[in-house]
Amino acid sequence: MYQLSFSMPEFLENYWHKKPTILKGGFQNFIDPISPEELAGLSMEEEIDSRFVSNFNDEWTAEHGPFGEEKFSQLSESHWQLIVQAANHWHEGANQLTEAFTSLPNWLFDDLMICYSAIGGGVGPHIDQYDVFIIQGQGKRQWRVGAKDVGQYKETCRASALRQIEGFDAIIDETLEPGDILYIPPGFPHEGNTLEPSMSYSIGYRSPKEQELISNFADFVLAHDMGDVHLHDPEFKTQDTYGKIRTSDLANLTTMLKSALEQPGTVNDFMGCLLSQSRHQLNIVAPEPLWKPEEVAQHLESEGEIYRVSGLKALYHEHEDKMAYINGEVIKVADEDTAFLNTLCNQPVIHSGITMSQASISLLTDLVNKGYWFIED
Ligand code: SIN
Ligand code: CO
Repeated sequence: MYQLSFSMPEFLENYWHKKPTILKGGFQNFIDPISPEELAGLSMEEEIDSRFVSNFNDEWTAEHGPFGEEKFSQLSESHWQLIVQAANHWHEGANQLTEAFTSLPNWLFDDLMICYSAIGGGVGPHIDQYDVFIIQGQGKRQWRVGAKDVGQYKETCRASALRQIEGFDAIIDETLEPGDILYIPPGFPHEGNTLEPSMSYSIGYRSPKEQELISNFADFVLAHDMGDVHLHDPEFKTQDTYGKIRTSDLANLTTMLKSALEQPGTVNDFMGCLLSQSRHQLNIVAPEPLWKPEEVAQHLESEGEIYRVSGLKALYHEHEDKMAYINGEVIKVADEDTAFLNTLCNQPVIHSGITMSQASISLLTDLVNKGYWFIED
């Protein structure tokens, strides 16, 4: 089990969205959850998002996976990096590393990206719009971090896919060893240089942009056929000038614009659906044949366990305990099933001994048959 050695509340107070820092020995006696060979194996899979970046002689190239065996049989000694996105969705050990961070909310969590870097390898100086905890596994990397971007950094066209910047003065310049963690808030330029072949684990958090909320809300309104009405004003009057939009008309139109946001439940459902959708592909496989509710009940009664697919998000609102949002879908439960809903959203595994009504068994059966939860053979 992975456990952080520092106090998350103190970290949040001092650093979160404020300044980068190094959490020396953030994990004590850190053991890599995955080997470089297993990482290479993941990068060969069609559905897994991977990249290979090379910077030999300062010539930058970036290629997207999946990669074939030949990629790994003719590698140079140095100056390259292999990156696998959302590795927690595909590798159980990698998924366990993310469980050290469950005191931060699941809705904000994006993914665990894993990099294997040969000596001299990296992705060059760049700026992310993510909060990231970069955990150093085996090996050593030197990290430089600069002051927050307020428009002073220039993008280069050296390797357009990498969105690098020209360079920056360091406010942090340190070498990370196994178990050390570098935290970088959005907007701080950074660059890692590999001193010894390394594994790095980036736990990324991404909050939605205001413009994403607005455009996604517009999609939600259309998908739910809401607001399909025109302005209605039986009290309409003539006006002295033709070109004027009256303040009273503007107020009526603005009220229309806001009305969807004021429907009870609409914003809750919209946020729940949006925030529970993973931004990376999930390992969802529907069972064959499908399970029947009595078989699921029987499985739990005989000490069987039911697992949530790694990376699948199941969320609920603090003030509403009969509703959950699972992978973008709204799920409603009866009064007696609120404890079950809490388990669904907060635990990676459903164990026997949990009290469930017939309705909850049916719901769980649906979730298993969709491939969101699974029963091991
Ligand atoms: C890297 O490990 O070099 C890439 C991670 C990052 O900079 O976000
Ligand atoms: Co970065």
